[in-house]
Amino acid sequence: MILVGSPRGLRPLILPFGLVAIALVLVALYHGVVDSEGLLERLLMINSGRPNHVAAQEDRRPTNTHAPPKYKPTPTLVAPSVTDPFPLLAKSTAALPPIPQYNVPRHGLHREYGLSYAPPIFIGYTRMWPMLLQCVVSYLTAGWPPESIFIVENTGVQDSNAEGRLSLQNPFYLNYGSLRRLGVNIIQTPVLLTFSQMQNFFLSTARARGWPYYFYSHQDVLVFSFEDGPDTTQRPGDRDWFFYDEQDEIDLRPVAAGQPGYRSFYENCLYELNQTLGREERWAFRWFQYDHLTLVNRAALEAVGGWDSLIPYYGSDCDLNARLEMDGWTMRHRRVGIINDVSTVMEDLLGLYRDPNVTPRFVDPNPIESAEAEEKEPAKEVQSDSTKEDDQDDRNNEVTEKRDERAKGHRELAYFRELVSLVDDMGAYKYRNENKNRNSWQNSQHGGAGEPYFYDGNGFSTAFWILAEAGREIFRQKWGHQDCDLVKDTALKLEDQWRVEKDWE
Ligand SMILES: *[C@@H]1O[C@H](CO)[C@@H](O)[C@H](O)[C@H]1NC(C)=O
Repeated sequence: MILVGSPRGLRPLILPFGLVAIALVLVALYHGVVDSEGLLERLLMINSGRPNHVAAQEDRRPTNTHAPPKYKPTPTLVAPSVTDPFPLLAKSTAALPPIPQYNVPRHGLHREYGLSYAPPIFIGYTRMWPMLLQCVVSYLTAGWPPESIFIVENTGVQDSNAEGRLSLQNPFYLNYGSLRRLGVNIIQTPVLLTFSQMQNFFLSTARARGWPYYFYSHQDVLVFSFEDGPDTTQRPGDRDWFFYDEQDEIDLRPVAAGQPGYRSFYENCLYELNQTLGREERWAFRWFQYDHLTLVNRAALEAVGGWDSLIPYYGSDCDLNARLEMDGWTMRHRRVGIINDVSTVMEDLLGLYRDPNVTPRFVDPNPIESAEAEEKEPAKEVQSDSTKEDDQDDRNNEVTEKRDERAKGHRELAYFRELVSLVDDMGAYKYRNENKNRNSWQNSQHGGAGEPYFYDGNGFSTAFWILAEAGREIFRQKWGHQDCDLVKDTALKLEDQWRVEKDWE
């Protein structure tokens, strides 16, 4: 089911309002309130969405006595253009390759786990299309049925993406055609939401559709099934895994693809939901690599009043997790597959379909050090362009050898191992330099000037961090405590919020 376009209830209003607007404009023109040339230019701009930006800026400088504004220096370092990581998908005629056959979900698989509906996964999206596409393709090739994947377009550009009016270099670009070809659903948020508001939007959507449980995933992850059997690598972002008992630990020791008892990533998610329901009543979250992928119990969030919309980004999780725990709901770190938190994109996503002609490689969409990385990195970690090329050559040689190895047999497994090793590198790359570059991918695209709802990319980041910090301050004042873990570090109870003095000097 696809939910796009203006909310049904608003449609009947558009025509009357349009007529009223036209009438007002005619009256204004008659009275000379607006000059018709400027109006025409603006109307044309609304239609085409592509005014001549520079010319428009010059023309619109008011001819008053004030000095022109002083401009900030033009940024000299600009990230290279992003590239489409799935050219085959963009060409609407070519057939898509099949996903690995052992990950194809059996029809009605959820029923085998006592579930009356296929649990959906929400993937929120604001910026950086190549990263979202990579995330979606990884869930699909790990067996998640496309009809149970819900992309939540939270770009703030209204219908511009649905109408195909943004370009790839626009940070908020999203390709509806490509997502539809993949068979996944798209839900549009009516306006740009913060992280906490978007979480509450997932909650209200689940409520409206009668889903008591749902999953949500961040858009910057890449997942795999346990195709190679047990995997005990602790990746950046992993916490200690929780086991209910010894038997549970044995049950979670995965069987490799092709063996009896093998479960894909998706099937493991169903298994996990089944286990959770059987073992605990008052559960809130199951986390898979902290909240990169999360299983949510709607009843828990409803019991504590959902996410605090006034803590827009960071700190909101500390606040909610504490309230849930104070109210007796459990949260546990579990495993359903291999999850990597990444900031880079595979050069060709056909690799995730195990296309033998594709050599798995990744590219950093924003190799420039981010503004948040205040200290200069040591030279050897920075990697000048030339050393990067050398590394790339090494990798290419290595990959060529691996390709020969693949030809000898165990092709699927060899390819899988190559993928896992590449994506582990991508995960490590994101967390390099003490995590200072974790968010650099968000600033990769710098285009889109003049397109509908254009918003300056650097301005967006700056505003984001201001709001994030404001949210942290709200958390501190709400609980009188500065650090995240309220349950471990304080004697606060649920009813204490906003009623206690600060506990630090
Ligand atoms: C879990 O799945 C099994 C079948 O695999 C089923 O018998 C059981 O009822 C399910 N548990 C719950 C809580 O739905």
